[in-house]
Amino acid sequence: MRIYDVILNKRNGKELTDEEIAFFVSGYTSGEIPDYQASALLMAIYFNGMTERETATLTDAMARSGDTVDLSCFGELSADKHSTGGVGDKTSFIVGPIVASLGGKVTKMSGRGLGHTGGTVDKLESIPGYKINLSNEEFISQVDKVGMAIIGQSGNLTPADKKIYALRDVTATVDSIPLITSSIMSKKIASGSHSIVLDVKVGSGAFMKTPEDAKILAENMVKIGKRCGRNMAALITNMDSPLGNTVGNALEIKEAVAVLKGEQGGDLKDICIELSAAMLSLIYDTSLDVAREKALQTLKSGKAYEKMLEWISAQGGDTAYIEDTSLFPKSAFEYEVTSDCDGFITSMDTEGIGVASVILGAGRMKKDEKIDYSAGIVINKKTGDKVSKGDTLCTLYTNDKNAIEQAKKRYLSSLTFGQNKKEAEPLVYGCIS
Ligand code: URA
Repeated sequence: MRIYDVILNKRNGKELTDEEIAFFVSGYTSGEIPDYQASALLMAIYFNGMTERETATLTDAMARSGDTVDLSCFGELSADKHSTGGVGDKTSFIVGPIVASLGGKVTKMSGRGLGHTGGTVDKLESIPGYKINLSNEEFISQVDKVGMAIIGQSGNLTPADKKIYALRDVTATVDSIPLITSSIMSKKIASGSHSIVLDVKVGSGAFMKTPEDAKILAENMVKIGKRCGRNMAALITNMDSPLGNTVGNALEIKEAVAVLKGEQGGDLKDICIELSAAMLSLIYDTSLDVAREKALQTLKSGKAYEKMLEWISAQGGDTAYIEDTSLFPKSAFEYEVTSDCDGFITSMDTEGIGVASVILGAGRMKKDEKIDYSAGIVINKKTGDKVSKGDTLCTLYTNDKNAIEQAKKRYLSSLTFGQNKKEAEPLVYGCIS
């Protein structure tokens, strides 16, 4: 077989065979197929798409390109969740303990943040002592004892995706539904969980800008996951404003703790309940209504909070910081951004707010940049809120005094104001299963 013919077939709109797809994945991962030919094939896929069978074959080949995790010891109880990326998304720290406190086995491998979206691993590393790297045995043993573990992605998980994603990034082929689907689902399949809940974000801070596009992506990923033998559900959720009231690593951990302690409600809690319900209904094969009630009860009873303490402690984290979140180090500078007009916030450019937090030091624009865990933003006013001149819109936290002015500008340019209240968009647009 020649890669030239595979490119030609896809360029001419033909459906690729399983052998052709496997040939591309193994040849590109091993370095036998050069970047320029892989780029041509990716562009042909971008324009001509892939059928469900082709996407499933690509996903499977990528999932098998490196290590895979065997979670069969947990039977039907293992569950994972994946968000397509947003701003202020700290749902895993709440959903994990809720589901684990009800007997689920939550196994999650996460990445670091890049660009305007934060990374789960960075957020967890803001807790002193928390170990991101566990051996396979430690990971399985912790999930067995505690019911959950969140670790960094192992070095050799889906090497095909690492190479293909990096190439897509520089060849304008990221936003292709079959390529996004195979990229996300190959990692989820290799990570081993029996049930997978996807949180497909839509809006100004997300990959998918319209609910229609998000629905197509969600349906695709659910179909492919099912073809690979997994229990699947996807929620399509709003990312037209940051989730909750904080953006930034330690700030987000503190907010997650507040929800688990029952001190905070609102959009963050509501989405976490919906995601937990979706996971529980897959694990236990119950209706969403029954699962939602269970999730609410375990949160209210304090059992989910107790589970968070158990999980953080098992993973080496200092639970004193969870019990008293005022112990997290404070940034040297704190700056209130105030409104210079009266009216209502009519929209938030969530990506811009993510960038403002990166400017403050909470994220990275380039791989391997250092992060300031105490930096970030606490948001006081969101879309639909009334504001009067002088009201605090948000507070910026940073250790870099020079960053404040630029972050403030970026934050303010991300808001639009009007004289009429705009009704908030729905928090959850739909559930695909
Ligand atoms: N996240 C991924 O892991 N892959 C994509 O292609 C897009 C988002």
